[in-house]
Amino acid sequence: MSINVGIIGTGRISHMQLAPAMQHIEGARLWSVLSRDNRRAAEFANLHGATAPVNAYASLASFLADPSLEAVIIATPDALHARQAIACARAGKHVLLEKPMATTAEDAAEINETFKQELLKLGIAYHLRWHDGHRKIAAMLHEGMLGKPRYARALWTWEAEDNSNWRAHPELGRWWGLAGVGTHCIDLMRWMLLPVCGEVTRCRSVIDSSTYGGPHDETACVSMQFGDSVPVDITTSVMFSAPSRFELYCEEAMVVCEGTLGPSGGGTITINNAPLDFELRNPYVGEIQNFIDAISGTTRIAVPGSEGLRNVELLLEAASD
Ligand SMILES: NC(=O)c1ccc[n+]([C@@H]2O[C@H](COP(=O)([O-])OP(=O)(O)OC[C@H]3O[C@@H](n4cnc5c(N)ncnc54)[C@H](OP(=O)(O)O)[C@@H]3O)[C@@H](O)[C@H]2O)c1
Repeated sequence: MSINVGIIGTGRISHMQLAPAMQHIEGARLWSVLSRDNRRAAEFANLHGATAPVNAYASLASFLADPSLEAVIIATPDALHARQAIACARAGKHVLLEKPMATTAEDAAEINETFKQELLKLGIAYHLRWHDGHRKIAAMLHEGMLGKPRYARALWTWEAEDNSNWRAHPELGRWWGLAGVGTHCIDLMRWMLLPVCGEVTRCRSVIDSSTYGGPHDETACVSMQFGDSVPVDITTSVMFSAPSRFELYCEEAMVVCEGTLGPSGGGTITINNAPLDFELRNPYVGEIQNFIDAISGTTRIAVPGSEGLRNVELLLEAASD
C-alpha cells in the first residue's frame, strides 16, 4: 500500500527538491498539488507525476476534501504554515511542515496541540539531519568518540538580489536569513549538542538590517550556550555569498565541514585533518522517508513539533536583540 502525499506550494523547494525526492520514496507517491493558481497546480502536478484522478487544486478545502489524500507536505511562506497545517490536521491528514514551523511561538504551540488532539503525525523539515556525513558526526559525538564538545560554529549565507522575496516582509515571514538558513543551523546544533550538553541556556545576537532598512535580519550573528559550558556561534546573511562551514571542536577532535550546509548532501568533512568518508545521499529523500515510515509505524518522526517550537522560540530570542 502506498501512502498518498499532496504538496501545498509550487515554489522553489517543492519544485527543486521535494517533488523530485518523492520519486524515490518507498511506500508513498505524489498524489495531488495545491497552488493559488489552478493552472500552476496542474502544470506542477503533471510535471512531477501526481497520480490522483484529480491532481490539481486551487482551494485548500477542496484539496483536503479528497478522502484518498493521507499526508501533506507544506512548502509555503512561513507565516502561512500554521493556518494550513491546522486545516490539514482537522481534515485528518499527516503533515511534513517546512521550516521554520511558524512565525510565532503561539502558532507553533497551537499546531502541536492540534496534531496531538487528532493523533496525527507532524514532522518538521530539517533536511540537514539526513546528510550522511552529519549523521556520522552526530553518531560519533553521541557515542563519546569525539570527547566532550567545547565549541561549535556555523556560517551559512547567500546574496539576495534585492528585498523582493517574501522573507523580507512581515506579512509572510518574520525573519530573512535566520528563517532561510539560520533555523537549519539552530536545528543542526541542537541535534548534535542537546544529548550531550543539555538545553540552550543563553542566546544573544547582533543583527544588521542597514542595507534595505526593513524589519528583518540581513546579517545575524547569534551566540548560544548549551548547558552550562558549551558556546556556539551561528552567522547568517543575505548580503554576501560565502562557502558554508560547520565546525565542531571537542576534547579529542576537530571536525570541519565545508559546503555541507545546503541541499546536495555533499561537501567535504575532516576530523583532525583526516577526510571523513560519507555517502552522497539526497537528504530530502531521507527526511520524507522518515515521515512516511513514521506514518506507517515503523519509526519515530526525527524532528517533532516540540523541536520545531523550541527552534521558533530561539529565532524569536535571537531576533529580539
Ligand atoms: N528545507 C529546505 O531546504 C528549504 C529550502 C527552501 C525553503 N524552505 C522552506 O519552504 C517554504 C517555501 O520556501 P520556498 O523557498 O520554496 O519559497 P517560494 O519559492 O517563494 O515558494 C513558496 C510557494 O508558496 C506558495 N504561496 C502561497 N501563498 C503565497 C504567497 N502569498 N506568496 C508567495 N507564495 C505563496 C506559492 O506557490 P503557488 O504559487 O503555487 O501558490 C509559492 O511558489 C518556506 O517555509 C521555506 O522556509 C525549506
